[in-house]
Amino acid sequence: MKKTVNAFDYAGKICQSMKKGILLTTAKDGQVNTMTIGWGTIGIEWSKPVFVAYVRDSRYTRQLLDATGEFTVNIPMGEVDSKILAYCGTKSGAQVDKIRDMDLHLEKSDVISVPGIRELPLTLECKVLFRNEQDERRLSDAIRDRYYSAGNAQDFHIAYYGEIVNAYLITE
Ligand SMILES: Cc1cc2nc3c(=O)[nH]c(=O)nc-3n(C[C@H](O)[C@H](O)[C@H](O)COP(=O)(O)O)c2cc1C
Repeated sequence: MKKTVNAFDYAGKICQSMKKGILLTTAKDGQVNTMTIGWGTIGIEWSKPVFVAYVRDSRYTRQLLDATGEFTVNIPMGEVDSKILAYCGTKSGAQVDKIRDMDLHLEKSDVISVPGIRELPLTLECKVLFRNEQDERRLSDAIRDRYYSAGNAQDFHIAYYGEIVNAYLITE
């Protein structure tokens, strides 16, 4: 069962939850993959409600996003098993089936083909409006050193601007 909600009523909750991590889910040809994200922006652009996700080029999720242009954002409403966020934030869908391994239960979305996840019931359905490869020449030295130098992954983030086309809570 789902209850439709206004995503902006939950903007604070979504931003607070990102401190521990939320999930970004993609799907292609029936295969569903999810990854933990800690960065994201919710707001308005082109008069549309948007969630912007920042996904490194090397992520398997990036391939699925580019192939389908759809994703869901999945936010816990109470406690979520920290093992889920740790596993989905370290394993790649190119190698493992994270949905099966973490025994996550999928809920069909209303508008897009990517499902929600019952264990993280607040769901944003998003369609990519715009994809922006961040220009490394415009990054400050401090940011480049902190996030893109030796010891850190050296591939840059791509900003995916997803129009929030629906938002719901999975209620059971
Ligand atoms: C707490 C946490 C937050 C993360 N945030 C992001 C993020 O915002 N963007 C990103 O590209 N990777 C982020 N990651 C790393 C990805 O979740 C991780 O590389 C994942 O294994 C990618 O899965 P995939 O290859 O199936 O797409 C985060 C990991 C953790 C543990």
